Amino acid sequence: MNNILRRGRLNKEDPTVLNYLSSMDTDRHIFEADLLTDIAHVIMLTEMGVITKDECTLILNALDTIMGEGFEELDTSYEDIHISIEAKLIEMVGEDTGGRMHSARSRNDEVATCIRMELRNELLKLMHRLIDLRKTILEIARENPETLMPGYTHLQHAQPTTLAHHLLAHYDAFVRDGQRVLGAYLRTNMSPLGSAAFASTGFEINRERTSELLGFQGLIENSMDAVSTRDFVVESISVFANIMTNISRLAEEMILWSSEEFGMVELDDSYTSTSSIMPQKKNPDTAELIRAKTGTVDGCLMSVLAITKALPMSYNRDLQEATPHLWRAAAITLGSVNIAKGMLSTMTVNKERSSLLAGTGFSTATELADTIVRTTELPFRTAHQIVGIMAKGNNYTLEELDRIGMEIIDRKLSEEGLSPELVEGALDVMENVKRRGATGGPAPREVERMIDERNYALMQDIDVLMEHVNAVQDSMKRLEYVKQSYV
Ligand code: ARG
Repeated sequence: MNNILRRGRLNKEDPTVLNYLSSMDTDRHIFEADLLTDIAHVIMLTEMGVITKDECTLILNALDTIMGEGFEELDTSYEDIHISIEAKLIEMVGEDTGGRMHSARSRNDEVATCIRMELRNELLKLMHRLIDLRKTILEIARENPETLMPGYTHLQHAQPTTLAHHLLAHYDAFVRDGQRVLGAYLRTNMSPLGSAAFASTGFEINRERTSELLGFQGLIENSMDAVSTRDFVVESISVFANIMTNISRLAEEMILWSSEEFGMVELDDSYTSTSSIMPQKKNPDTAELIRAKTGTVDGCLMSVLAITKALPMSYNRDLQEATPHLWRAAAITLGSVNIAKGMLSTMTVNKERSSLLAGTGFSTATELADTIVRTTELPFRTAHQIVGIMAKGNNYTLEELDRIGMEIIDRKLSEEGLSPELVEGALDVMENVKRRGATGGPAPREVERMIDERNYALMQDIDVLMEHVNAVQDSMKRLEYVKQSYV
């Protein structure tokens, strides 16, 4: 047997069993991260005098070749990418040199480092996409501060609002999502490297150096914690799940609003699908898939929680089973945010239809009750009863209010100061919206203020993102620079 991993302790291998043990397929995600981790580790070993400069040069050159050839050229019969790359290295430079790379290291700290590096990239991309989605929403809101639409509770007409106000509600959820991605990023971007199997190593190593070379912000200090925790995976997927839940609500509204019954928006052809039998169909399939993929991401979160629950310290092979769920959830979330952005930016809004619907279902009833309270001495609860009785018919006039007033309180509201003009104002849909100008309300002036403030905060969030992107890119350039001094 010439498998460099098994040849010592084990005498037998079975291809079916090896295949069962293998993480090779998922490891394609960490191909580049693994080589970068190797490079940083080998440079540190050289700096610390554990291996010689000549050995370092030979190893780094071979790793360069492996990087150039790509993942597809690796021998996938090994149980994971770490052993496959090491085997290839040994094949290229001989065991006396290549066999030294794994000094002071285990696959346990290695794989944790690789996952964190690749996840770091995914989280930065996700922050970027969330910012793009936020930009799109702000642009549409800017164009629609006076586009009336029905506001719903229980999916029943409740009170009128505007498209801008409605979209800002989604927007603010995506702001919080962005903050959560950043939180997950900060806890992910920490180095476990140098922890070895779990109990550190007797070699003289410099963990701070490899951390810095790989652009991490600090160490996962305790070597046992470093190799055994996947809480950063749970945290990231829970952030993904939250994002998906938020987008799924938007998607659901697109499905409803683009239906014949609502008719408030039309999705762009490119974001829809059609029927193979019903020639007239234009279906919101992208929105439906966002809705469904939310369930898949929720499943990934549950899987990782269940896989890592009650695992004893420190490394257990169970951890390998968690990783595919991470990449799956990340890919779905990145894709969905992108699709949501495109769906919104290309849809057309039927302003006439949404304005028409805004006033139906007696959506101005609250304002009428409020107007009664403000002009008469009646308490709100009584006004609520009077307007509630009015809602059972379809006669929204002062005369009708007087008739109900006589019935309930033996008084005419017209004699308490309520005029036809006041009733008319209360029933005016745009007027309803304009009056709701308290902080956070749908009044166009208030919404415009909110848009301005959000626009400013968005610019600041872009700056924060760019700082992190640059920090990673700079460290990668520095690593390459240091590497060049050895090759
Ligand atoms: N493929 C493994 C994983 O993804 C790498 C670590 C293997 N370590 C071990 N002790 N078997 O977790």
